[in-house]
Amino acid sequence: MDEHAETPREAQGGQRVRVWDMPTRLFHWSLVALVVASYLTGEVWRGFGMQWHMYFGYAVLTLLVFRVAWGLVGTRHARFADFLHSPARTWAYLGDLVRGRRRAFAGHNPLGGLSVLAFLAVLLAQAGSGLFASDDIFVEGPLAGLVSGEAVDLMTSVHHVAFDLLVGLVVLHLLAVVFYEGVAGQRLVRAMISGTKRATAAADNVPLAVGRGLAVLAVSAALVSALVWGLPALKS
Ligand code: HEM
Ligand code: HEM
Repeated sequence: MDEHAETPREAQGGQRVRVWDMPTRLFHWSLVALVVASYLTGEVWRGFGMQWHMYFGYAVLTLLVFRVAWGLVGTRHARFADFLHSPARTWAYLGDLVRGRRRAFAGHNPLGGLSVLAFLAVLLAQAGSGLFASDDIFVEGPLAGLVSGEAVDLMTSVHHVAFDLLVGLVVLHLLAVVFYEGVAGQRLVRAMISGTKRATAAADNVPLAVGRGLAVLAVSAALVSALVWGLPALKS
């Protein structure tokens, strides 16, 4: 079967089919909470918040490692193979969208798939650069001591630029969600909460995959802990 199979979803009166497993949904809403918390502690409540800023950042990093792995071993629509489309297909999808032909997908549509990649890349740059960043006075990331002063300055700049890009992506993301909900009539937010969409056949319900998700999360957390605590200890 075509991995990108497009189905006549959101059919009126169709039954509800689970398209997002539990880990993908929890990933999304925890990411939202942790990104907001990282922003607040990094910028708004800097004075007492920097230690927390770093903890929230490690948690974001863990989620990112998790999501990359989940893109390979997660359930059907969580996989990269399901939502990464060729440029030609993405372009054709965009053309259809502009002409008012609004195709619904079981998982991410081609633009949604692109936005997953963009978020992963920008957030990896954000959290990864934070590990080496420093304000030159009170705080520095756990790996800042392992590299040169110039590298720390560069990573601190990357940390600032990545944040501007992140804010831009979030704004685009929210506009896209409003468009799909309000204009295209696709209940994407509800699906990210309940996991289900209306469909014509229940044959391709995905499993909840809680056990598999916990296993992948444990490995991700172990990798990030080794990076932020193990590596500096090893070098000192
Ligand atoms: C998604 C995750 C993250 C977000 C959204 C984020 C965001 C921010 C923001 C908005 C600032 C203030 C920049 C400014 O001075 O205007 C900041 C500063 C900082 N962040 Fe993060 N950060 C994240 C992850 C991390 C991580 C994982 C670390 C390291 C463990 C880290 C370490 C730092 C440090 C050391 C500063 C101070 C740098 C400076 O004053 O220029 N951040 N971050
Ligand atoms: C800091 C803010 C946010 C970030 C970083 C973010 C990031 C993401 C990411 C990475 C995905 C892909 C999910 C995956 O497959 O793993 C996604 C999807 C989604 N997000 Fe967000 N999100 C944010 C805020 C929100 C908010 C506030 C809403 C709703 C009010 C929302 C609604 C959705 C929906 C509906 C999808 C699924 C889109 C689809 O069906 O293709 N997001 N988001």
